[in-house]
Amino acid sequence: MFNDTSSPLSLLATRRSGKPRDLVAPGPDADQLAQILAIAARTPDHGKLAPWRFVVIGQDQRTALAALIIDAYRVERPTASRTEIEALDQFAHQAPALVVVLSSPKPSHIPVFEQELSTGAACMNLLHAVHALGFAGGWLTGWPSYSDTVRDAFGEGHERIAGFLFVGTPSRPLDERPRPDMERVVSRWRP
Ligand SMILES: Cc1cc2nc3c(=O)[nH]c(=O)nc-3n(C[C@H](O)[C@H](O)[C@H](O)COP(=O)(O)O)c2cc1C
Repeated sequence: MFNDTSSPLSLLATRRSGKPRDLVAPGPDADQLAQILAIAARTPDHGKLAPWRFVVIGQDQRTALAALIIDAYRVERPTASRTEIEALDQFAHQAPALVVVLSSPKPSHIPVFEQELSTGAACMNLLHAVHALGFAGGWLTGWPSYSDTVRDAFGEGHERIAGFLFVGTPSRPLDERPRPDMERVVSRWRP
């Protein structure tokens, strides 16, 4: 269906996520990351509220991120196993580039639901920009996204972590995942 590999449609059709643990250097340089974030911000947004924001976590900050997540986890689950802690440590260290996307709803007559939809769209745009530059991205939430302590390290009480978006170069071919049967997700309205 998307045979013309030079077409923009083909670019959209070939995007797929990489597992963040399989993403290695090179990651985007500073200019490329700025481009990625500019595209992410170019997102449908009812009321021009920019109800999202992006927090870039540097490679040199991963140890601090791991400590933040692990300390928060231990407070919530004092009997955490070594395996659980190692998984959180690995979470914080994977992939060369990392952007935390925050849902940051603004006081407005625009429903929060619509503002959150815009945040999801910003994440998707970010992943498309990543792909257009020849990298792969992975959008993870997991336990850290739902921890108020972790959220407080990046944002304020009314904000939520929409995801940790990891970016890098795949160290192995990306898996394609089954896509929905279009007949199940598309229908024609029959009034
Ligand atoms: C909001 C959100 C959170 C996600 N969190 C996780 C996660 O924590 N762990 C995971 O394995 N996949 C997670 N995923 C799924 C992957 O990001 C990704 O969509 C999927 O692995 C492959 O889909 P793709 O190739 O179309 O991008 C999440 C997806 C979304 C939209």
